[in-house]
Amino acid sequence: MMCALQSRRRSLRHQGGLAAAGPSSDYILDMSATLQPAKQASAPGAGVPTIWLDGKWYDRDTATVSVYDHGLLYGDGVFEGIRIYGGKIFRLAEHLERLYDSAHAIWMTVPMPRDEMATVTEEAVRRSGITEGYIRHIVTRGVGDLTYDPQATPKPSVVIIVKPQIDPPPEAYERGVRTVIVDIVRNHPGTVNPMIKSNNLMNSALAMQEALRRGAFEGIMRNYRGELTECTTSNLFIVRNGAALTPPLTSGLLPGTRRDFIFDVGKDVGVEVREEVLRDEDLFSADEAFLTSTTREAVPIVTVDDRTIGTGTPGPVTKRLLEGFRRRAHANASTGGQEQNRLRSP
Ligand SMILES: Cc1ncc(COP(=O)(O)O)c(C=O)c1O
Repeated sequence: MMCALQSRRRSLRHQGGLAAAGPSSDYILDMSATLQPAKQASAPGAGVPTIWLDGKWYDRDTATVSVYDHGLLYGDGVFEGIRIYGGKIFRLAEHLERLYDSAHAIWMTVPMPRDEMATVTEEAVRRSGITEGYIRHIVTRGVGDLTYDPQATPKPSVVIIVKPQIDPPPEAYERGVRTVIVDIVRNHPGTVNPMIKSNNLMNSALAMQEALRRGAFEGIMRNYRGELTECTTSNLFIVRNGAALTPPLTSGLLPGTRRDFIFDVGKDVGVEVREEVLRDEDLFSADEAFLTSTTREAVPIVTVDDRTIGTGTPGPVTKRLLEGFRRRAHANASTGGQEQNRLRSP
């Protein structure tokens, strides 16, 4: 019995949480490939990873931070993740708004104005030559002695990394992915508030590690009241009676930029999108479910804890939203990157 269970787990793990195995379906291995040294650009638009660190330009082999940086020592900092489509940054203002809000929430002042951050970010993308890419902003408390006292770190450090985008494999969209509800509870808002996009990611890392051990593509987290909140690196939606429902920010979760975008896309494609407190049984009995994030767009969920959701295949509402999502993201690239929106308030 134990052996059968172990071998099932091994085989699920090998599938990387995808609904069925395929030749290129090992998304876990794909992700680890990002840890390998950068290769030189081989095709137009492939570009070269480019890093801006406190005013200077580096490549991925030369960019280093101090072992006294409080981001490393304590996870004391905030970050952002932004998508580049067709060489244009998607919704930069919205991401920078969340970055500066996150910094404000941890009593940290980003040491450069927002418009300067935007200008340097645009320059980093231009220098990289990357057209389908990902930008990571990191602002740490800075370099200082081994103490929590912020007076030891008078100047926060700012890092901007531009690198190629790594998409989930096409099978994730075609067949959907497996998820599990993890035992790790989402941070209580009175600890490190999940609304802050914080570098202190132990909660998410442990939850994702549990999901990976259980052979899933993503882990879904409950809050301390038992309500569903979000996944470890994405937001959660279910579809019931044709409407897409997502937990409210008061359940304690990150105000995802793509979660917010789904409200706009819903209007474009005629799908009602609203917030609702969700519990396990809402997910188990949903017609469809999907997760959203900057790098994954909208990925259909077809199982949770080995229970099939709906028909066990990506549903029509999810597909409509994903198509609308992509249409708008790519239109943005062809119209010069004008797509912007403010975040929904809680
Ligand atoms: C915990 C968590 N929730 C949701 C998201 C999705 O946010 P966004 O749509 O802005 O990428 C992320 C992204 O990293 C995340 O880490």
